[in-house]
Amino acid sequence: MRIVFIGPPGAGKGTQSVRLVEYLEIPHLSTGEMLRDAKKRGTELGLIAAPIMDRGDLVPDPLVLKILGKRLHEPDCGNGWLLDGFPRTIGQAQSLDQYLADKGTSLNCVIELFVPDDELQQRLANRYLQLENPRPEDQPEAIPRRISLYRSQTEPLIEYYRQSDVLRSVDGIGTMDEIFHRILDCIHDSTGENAK
Ligand code: AP5
Ligand code: MG
Repeated sequence: MRIVFIGPPGAGKGTQSVRLVEYLEIPHLSTGEMLRDAKKRGTELGLIAAPIMDRGDLVPDPLVLKILGKRLHEPDCGNGWLLDGFPRTIGQAQSLDQYLADKGTSLNCVIELFVPDDELQQRLANRYLQLENPRPEDQPEAIPRRISLYRSQTEPLIEYYRQSDVLRSVDGIGTMDEIFHRILDCIHDSTGENAK
């Protein structure tokens, strides 16, 4: 099963991905987590990405492709995965299509989680105040930048995927259980017998 999760910052992609990968028994590939880990370890890539991430900008495609490409080559990715936060640009989506075509495979489902901007701002601002070690990208100056980049760079992917009929849109407002069940319904709808 190959699934892509698209949604603005704070939509709940990470929260729902954790539950979904446990249910589907596939690896959770979050480019945000990979980049935060590289940053924490102080790798060459992490040092380049750090200031870009901290101000709420998108990390350039070649760096993201490098870190994800390495992860996709690991043996546990052979039978599918859930991509959380990738692709985020049309260029990244085209690279993913090329990767899938080279493997002779395709995406089963692209889930768009939609949430209005005021709710996103509220969730991210709360998280910034509540965490002992808050994410720099959740600071008040970076949040509008992240949301605006999502609308300009990532939202066009929704039309991109609609053309190939794999897109399912899910309302991201509600309890975490309600949203999880909406997502499962979409996955069953798009994969039929193949999903659990
Ligand atoms: P990334 O880590 O992907 O962050 P993001 O998508 O911007 O935002 P979040 O991960 O915070 O949102 P989420 O949708 O996962 O929500 P979550 O479940 O956490 O990326 C970080 C940075 O890395 C980017 O800004 C960029 O610089 C770089 N990057 C990553 N990938 C890249 C790429 N492909 N290309 C270029 N750059 C890239 O939930 C958020 C909060 O809401 C939590 O507190 C949660 O508890 C709460 N919440 C969740 N669900 C609900 C609910 N139903 N009701 C109420 N609250 C809820
Ligand atoms: Mg996340």
